[in-house]
Amino acid sequence: MNGVFDLSPLVKHLLLNPLEPYSGWVGSLRVTTRFVIPDYPAQISAYYKDLLPGGLQNCVNQSGIPFNYNQFGLQFQFEQATELELHDNDMNLDPGVKALADQFGPVIFKNAYLSLEKRSMGHRNRFPHLSFHVDRSPMQPTPYSIFSRDPFDPEQSEPRTASTLLTANIVAYLQCVKEGTCDPVTEKGARSQYDLFGNSDMSQVLDKLVLNQAWNEPKGTGELVLQDNRTLQHASYYRDAARQGYRIGVRYVG
Ligand SMILES: [Fe+2]
Repeated sequence: MNGVFDLSPLVKHLLLNPLEPYSGWVGSLRVTTRFVIPDYPAQISAYYKDLLPGGLQNCVNQSGIPFNYNQFGLQFQFEQATELELHDNDMNLDPGVKALADQFGPVIFKNAYLSLEKRSMGHRNRFPHLSFHVDRSPMQPTPYSIFSRDPFDPEQSEPRTASTLLTANIVAYLQCVKEGTCDPVTEKGARSQYDLFGNSDMSQVLDKLVLNQAWNEPKGTGELVLQDNRTLQHASYYRDAARQGYRIGVRYVG
């Protein structure tokens, strides 16, 4: 297979009504697409309204942290298990998928996997609980990460007990201010690491402010998540504090 199918027609349909999933066809494949957090700025503005007397855009300007996601987290659920060539052997990301990541932040593929050759690339990792961070500096030529669950791997074929959380830099900043560990007067730009939400009721924030990639599709299901380390922070969330989950696949692409 050369590259990923053109998914943009599905996304055009989805954008007509971002609140509702859209099911369509890509060639002979049935695919359902949805936004995990539609109208993200409204969610952020509501949750942090006490910190945003001048509005979210004013905070973006004052903090020096760009924010441009109107819809956050674009998910594609394939009805049949599907091989996707998300990157080439030189770790160049598929340009169509890159454009989607630039517009919507995390891009999630469920019931999908990389080719046998590509599955052997990259490494495995397990991130700390609620320690939001980036994997790459903005200067590195491969600023995107692809996190993966390989359906053919004995360990990763099982559902995972821990989630990967993804949020926009501006949310990490606002939460840091809310928790009293960032001074909005002096702090400019995004940090490369934030410890957040340690005392929060996570049901108030999951899939509202923070995308919850639970890795809990049934046994034998592949899952792939693309994210941009320049604009997003990620962490593990151990849903069961006693179980950290297996290491997920990690690779960097540009
Ligand atoms: Fe990481």
